[in-house]
Amino acid sequence: MKKETIQPAKYLTGGLELPGDKSISHRYAMLAGLAEGTSELRHFSAAADCHSTLGCMKALGAEVKIDSDTVRVTGHGPRGLKASWRALDAGNSGTTMRLLAGILAGQAFSSKLTGDDSLQKRPMKRVIGPLREMGADIRGRDDNFAPLEIRGASLKAIDYKMPMASAQVKSAVLLAGLFAEGETIVTEPARTRDHTELALQEFGAAIESHGRTIRIHGFGGGSGSGRLTAKSLDVPGDLSSAVFFIAAASLFADSNLLIHNVGLNPTRTAILDVFASMGAAVQIFGVKSSQGEIVGDLAVKGASLKGGVIAGDQIPLVIDELPMLAALGPYTEEGIEFRDAAELRVKESDRIAALAENLRRMGATVEERPDGLKVEGRSAGKLHGAEIEPRGDHRIAMAFAVAGLAADGATVIRDADCAGVSYPTFFKELERLADR
Ligand code: S3P
Repeated sequence: MKKETIQPAKYLTGGLELPGDKSISHRYAMLAGLAEGTSELRHFSAAADCHSTLGCMKALGAEVKIDSDTVRVTGHGPRGLKASWRALDAGNSGTTMRLLAGILAGQAFSSKLTGDDSLQKRPMKRVIGPLREMGADIRGRDDNFAPLEIRGASLKAIDYKMPMASAQVKSAVLLAGLFAEGETIVTEPARTRDHTELALQEFGAAIESHGRTIRIHGFGGGSGSGRLTAKSLDVPGDLSSAVFFIAAASLFADSNLLIHNVGLNPTRTAILDVFASMGAAVQIFGVKSSQGEIVGDLAVKGASLKGGVIAGDQIPLVIDELPMLAALGPYTEEGIEFRDAAELRVKESDRIAALAENLRRMGATVEERPDGLKVEGRSAGKLHGAEIEPRGDHRIAMAFAVAGLAADGATVIRDADCAGVSYPTFFKELERLADR
């Protein structure tokens, strides 16, 4: 349980290379394990979550070789996975558990899928429901929680109108659809990240998207006529990790930060629009396409942030960035308010409660609501350093480390190692770039 102490900074300056995108790394690792041959995944995420996915794919019979941030995964085709003799451990990773549930539902063997204490409290009914409709036999504690017992079956395609906007649920159904007989159709109520669709296309699956509807042609239940081909792919830097540094640099007038090779998939960049609407000085340049994804560089300077309200369809597009925005609230003119964000309560922690508690520890004025938060802006007073309890949640730990840079006095982040779930070198990089 390592603590990190954050001293106030004057500004952020320098250049930054981010770890590979977490969402994309999960998908590439899974699809590489279902493809025939050896895929080379360069700049693969260092996140513990993505290494949980690699561990599961290995336990299912894929060969995995890790050489710093290059990962080689050898798969034996869509029907090449084998039963794991032990429970598959998704660790802290909801993406690993929900997406793998889709893949395992279509296998000719049974699996047990588990995770850490936090993951065992997160709702799985959202994937159990549609996968059962496709014919899978899935059992969980209270029919909602891990450990999940998945007895693979011959699946049938469904036309699924999603009741909620979740990329993980969409992905679970699409991945199960890969193994189903016929065409699986998924319609989202609002747009969510589309990395699964892009990755499936890259590996050779028959998938197409029109607006919010996605269709995938399955291989069917037989020996499998369909193929996925091994690929050599570069994972872009993780925009959700960049956000902590964009926020940190924005806090100080003299900041000058360059963030290289950031993933700019349009289903992820809503956070840049939010920053722009708040008056942040973020410039995008060098944009190019990279194997279906888009990458570019970001230049960030200090700015006087306005704050604002985030609600409705915006929420799923910035869901992982809300902790950082909330922790910026006290440094903005109007404060920050979220509505329609009850989903935050079932993330790696109850993020609404964790944000409210830790913001108050630093002296902020916060109203906690069932589906959101209202954080008062600058006029409610300056934050002071405090001891932060991140509740084992990486994004809470990182958000408050950033808030601590502009507070009066030192901020101590308890259990700071939890940042490794998405960004193992976060504190080292923050220390390197912060000038005192
Ligand atoms: C993710 C989807 C989002 C996000 C999570 C990663 C993904 O979750 O919060 O960190 O990679 O598909 P939901 O699908 O539950 O919204």
